[in-house]
Amino acid sequence: MRILGIETSCDETAVSLIEAHGSFENGVAFRILGNALLSQAKEHEKYGGVFPNVAKREHQRALVPVLQEALREAGLLDTPRSVSEETLTEIEQLLEREPELFMNLGTFLRSTGAPPLDAIAVTVGPGLEPALWVGVNFAKALGIAWRVPLVAVNHMEGHIMLSASDGDRLARFELPLMSLLISGGHTELVLSREWMQYEIIGATRDDAVGEAFDKVARLMDLPYPGGPHVSRLASQARTQSGDALPSISLPRPMIETKDYDFSFAGLKTAVRRFVEASQPLSDDMKMALAREFEDACADVLVAKTMRAIEEHGVKTLVVGGGVSANSHIRTCLKDAITDYGCAKLLIPPPELATDNALMIAFAGFFRAQKQEFAAAETLRANGNMKLS
Ligand code: KG4
Ligand code: ZN
Repeated sequence: MRILGIETSCDETAVSLIEAHGSFENGVAFRILGNALLSQAKEHEKYGGVFPNVAKREHQRALVPVLQEALREAGLLDTPRSVSEETLTEIEQLLEREPELFMNLGTFLRSTGAPPLDAIAVTVGPGLEPALWVGVNFAKALGIAWRVPLVAVNHMEGHIMLSASDGDRLARFELPLMSLLISGGHTELVLSREWMQYEIIGATRDDAVGEAFDKVARLMDLPYPGGPHVSRLASQARTQSGDALPSISLPRPMIETKDYDFSFAGLKTAVRRFVEASQPLSDDMKMALAREFEDACADVLVAKTMRAIEEHGVKTLVVGGGVSANSHIRTCLKDAITDYGCAKLLIPPPELATDNALMIAFAGFFRAQKQEFAAAETLRANGNMKLS
């Protein structure tokens, strides 16, 4: 099955094309034919966060070039034109609210024909609704132009599917499976007793852990998105300066509570108070603060996840979302799973941890296999979509 994946839920415009065969029961093999991504991070840097309307404008600009790049990589850009003028008129009406996208897409469809595809998978949520709609309408337009069925994908299921795959195949693992999803918008523990069935057993009550990383970075005058910058400072503190750095102590919010919920807003506030009281912040102070903040996040994530794993007899832990690129958090989770000894850890390579369209194509493949195609009329963006 050939699946095109489209991702526009936040500030990454991404399109991927995969070929996949097999089933969960008998094993699945994937081949990546094309994988393209354009990050808008530079556009949002000046605001210190993602601005929905800027994201919407940038997705409109980027989608066609990114699609072309993915198709070029797949060697599928030279197909002769196949769309009629009537179809183009229909697409123009559909993209009434995305005129710039239609301009780009119209030009593209007038010169290039339909690639051989079995489904177009698109992120419908969760995420920023204005951004999601651009991807959803783009998928609908391609569905009309190429006569290919659509599949609605939950972005968080995309993170899980990508983390559960191991290079060019679905990893071998046992159920029950627990997913620790840690990103800019989510911090969740999700239990799957069955494959592709989800029960959210815990979530953040305020900020997501990635959001806390980004806010802490801002407090330290580091650029957006701040996670990688805070992480770099923290590893410098661990490797270079060691014990010579000032000692700072931050709280581990909710680490002792019996539920599986998280809270990161208080931790961020503690960082803000420390920064305000320690002006001007020396480089040593910044490094020590980054290390202690990262330790606090890792401690809470590991403690709650390991307790959830033991209580539910979990055999496989999947970690996904942008924060799973964090090397310290990865190491702490790996060590905890090794010590526990009764569960397997699946975590994506750091470069695939942040948003991309491969994850959407993977999840789309599993949904398409279940014949879960979506009619264009009913396909909608849903910013608050939950896994179920
Ligand atoms: O999954 P993702 O790309 O987008 C969402 O779905 O939110 O996650 C982005 C988040 C951002 O908050 C970013 O700062 C964080 O992941 N992040 C990191 C690292 N790399 C990305 N946080 C900590 N350490 C990292 N190395
Ligand atoms: Zn994400």
